Amino acid sequence: MSLSPVNHSVAVVTGGARRLGAAISRALATAGYRLVVNYHHSEQAALDLVADLRRGGGHACAVGADVGTTRGVAELFEQTLQTYGRVDLLVANAGSFGRTPLESLSEANWQAMIDGNLRPTFLCTQRFGLHMRDHGGGCIVAMADVAGLRPWSGYLSYNISKAGVISLVQTLAKELAPNVRVNAIAPGPVLFPEGYDPALRQREIDRTLLRREGRPENVAQAVVALASNDYITGVVLPVDGGRLLA
Ligand SMILES: NC(=O)c1ccc[n+]([C@@H]2O[C@H](COP(=O)([O-])OP(=O)(O)OC[C@H]3O[C@@H](n4cnc5c(N)ncnc54)[C@H](OP(=O)(O)O)[C@@H]3O)[C@@H](O)[C@H]2O)c1
Repeated sequence: MSLSPVNHSVAVVTGGARRLGAAISRALATAGYRLVVNYHHSEQAALDLVADLRRGGGHACAVGADVGTTRGVAELFEQTLQTYGRVDLLVANAGSFGRTPLESLSEANWQAMIDGNLRPTFLCTQRFGLHMRDHGGGCIVAMADVAGLRPWSGYLSYNISKAGVISLVQTLAKELAPNVRVNAIAPGPVLFPEGYDPALRQREIDRTLLRREGRPENVAQAVVALASNDYITGVVLPVDGGRLLA
């Protein structure tokens, strides 16, 4: 693993054990970050990933915590400081996804989606962001979605949860400046949920300018870029193959 200027920096990736989170964890380890891989249910995946990163010469640990709760976020925060003594980068990646047609959208489903996306992003960015602001600065990258910028019908509560993430990021970029930079990534069709309808999948791909789905590494590279460029704050970066423009 190559040494780099960020070699002493510490990054926390929420939901970092699988899918996009795992790609982000790997990219940050390669960039030289010491890593905290947070997981909720995917303990084995987190342990396997951490073992793999360590075999590659990286520093990484896995921390199980439900970041949808204040208590879980506090545990993640304390474990991070106990392990490394500092935190420089938070990637607020943990989220959930689901279709919520208006006709059948119950209050409980509505709340579940807001709780699945907006709540963990708020709780983590508040806890880690205020600490970074008061202890030498830092950077936050949150995972939004192009649906937070241009809503899809049939996904009301998901769209709103991700629009909320975008507003949260923009507000925190103001409130935590100048010590902490806060940005969002808005992925397009990168990694479809398991079992996603093949026809719908193809339709989403056809709606990109590049006519293909993205790779998890495309998103991970964008995280590394936002983390390393110290003159970018308050932006929402689409990584979407031109989906927003198409
Ligand atoms: N995949 C895409 O193409 C795409 C497109 C647009 C936006 N995004 C956004 O990018 C992010 C990652 O996408 P993804 O598809 O990899 O997501 P995902 O598979 O739906 O979920 C990512 C991880 O979030 C973790 N998580 C959820 N709630 C948690 C909680 N309360 N505490 C701790 N961890 C929690 C889960 O960890 P455990 O497995 O450990 O439970 C899960 O592995 C999400 O925010 C998603 O909305 C993805």
